[in-house]
Amino acid sequence: MKGLILSGGYGTRLRPITYSQQKQLIPVANKPILFYAIEDVIEAGVKEIGIIVGPNKEQVIETVKSENWDVDAGAEIEFIYQGEPKGLAHTILVAEDFLDDEFVMYLGDNILREGIVEHAKKFKGNNYDASIMLTEVENPQQFGVADINEDGTIKRLVEKPKVPPGNLALVGIYFFKPVILEACKHIKPSWRNELEITDAIQWLIDNGYEVGWTKVQGWWKDTGKPEDILEANRLILDDIKTKNEGTAESSKIIGRAIIEKGVEIKNSIVKGPSLIGCDCMIRNSYIGPYTSIGKECIIEDTEIEDSIVMEKSEIIGGGRIIESLIGKEVKIKRKSDLPNGRKLIVGDHSEIVG
Ligand code: G1P
Repeated sequence: MKGLILSGGYGTRLRPITYSQQKQLIPVANKPILFYAIEDVIEAGVKEIGIIVGPNKEQVIETVKSENWDVDAGAEIEFIYQGEPKGLAHTILVAEDFLDDEFVMYLGDNILREGIVEHAKKFKGNNYDASIMLTEVENPQQFGVADINEDGTIKRLVEKPKVPPGNLALVGIYFFKPVILEACKHIKPSWRNELEITDAIQWLIDNGYEVGWTKVQGWWKDTGKPEDILEANRLILDDIKTKNEGTAESSKIIGRAIIEKGVEIKNSIVKGPSLIGCDCMIRNSYIGPYTSIGKECIIEDTEIEDSIVMEKSEIIGGGRIIESLIGKEVKIKRKSDLPNGRKLIVGDHSEIVG
C-alpha cells in the first residue's frame, strides 16, 4: 500500500500563524502536526509516501527532510506539487502517476490517537474498493457526514450538510484502490468550487463499487482552527511520561512534565502535563498544565497555561497568558502594569511591547 499525505492549502482559519507557516507544520506538543500523519502511515507498513505540497512547499520539504524517515523506517518520501488548492479529490488527480496501487490518503492536519493499523487491515481484509473512517461528532455540519443503512452499509455521504442525516463524520483518512481516480475524473466542483473527496466516494457507491467503513475508537482532531490545535495539544500531553533532562533551581516540578536538555528553570513552578523544549530558560514563572514550549524560548516573570509557544520566542513580564498560540521568534515584553490575563494568537516574528 502507498501513502498520500496532504500538506497543501492556505490554512486561512489559522491566520496570522499561517501567513508564515504552512498549517500542517504548526507544532502540537513540539512536533509538527504533519509528522503524526507520517508516523501513522509508516506504522501501517507503508514504504512509499507521496506528500502533496502547495503554497509553502519549500518549508514543508525542508521540515520533512530534516527527519531521517528513510533511514529509520525504510520509507521513501516524494513530494508532489499541487499548483492551486482545488479540493481533496483534485490532489488525487495531481498525484495520478504516483497512485498506481492501493493507497491511504491522510489529511496532514488530522491527528488520530489510535493510528491507522487496524483500519488498514480491515480495508485489505475485506477487499473493499474504498474504506472510510467515521466518528461521532457534535457539529456534523462542519464535516462530511455518512448516512448509514440499517444493515450497516453506507447509504450516502454529504459534505457539510445544513441538515445532517446523523452525527457520524468522515475523518480525514481514506483507503482507496486506484479506481478512485476514475471517480475523481467524473465529479464536478462543489459550491465551494472544490473537487470534493466525499463526492468522489459517493460516485463509487453510485456505480456499484464496494465502500466499507470503520469506526474510530480513540480521539480524533481536525486541527483547522486555533482552538483545535490547543485541544490536540492537550490530548497529546495527556499521554506523556515524565522526563527531566534539564536543571531546576529553587523550583517545583509538579505532575508529568517533559523537560528537555539544556533547559534551565529558576524560581519557577512547572505543572504538568507540560513540555519544555531544549535550551529554554524559565525564570520567576509559572508554566501551567497543558503548555508546550518550543526550543530556545525565554520565559520570565510570566504565568502561562494551556498554551503553545513556538521556538525561539521570548516572553518577559507577560502577566497571565492562557489558551494562546504564540508563533516562532515572537517577543512579548511588558513594561507597564497592564491588567492581568490574556488570550493571544500571535504570528511569527511579532513584537508586543506594552
Ligand atoms: C475535509 C473533508 C470532510 C472531512 C474533513 C475531515 O473537510 O471534505 O469531509 O470530514 O476534511 O478533516 P475540509 O477540511 O476540507 O473542510
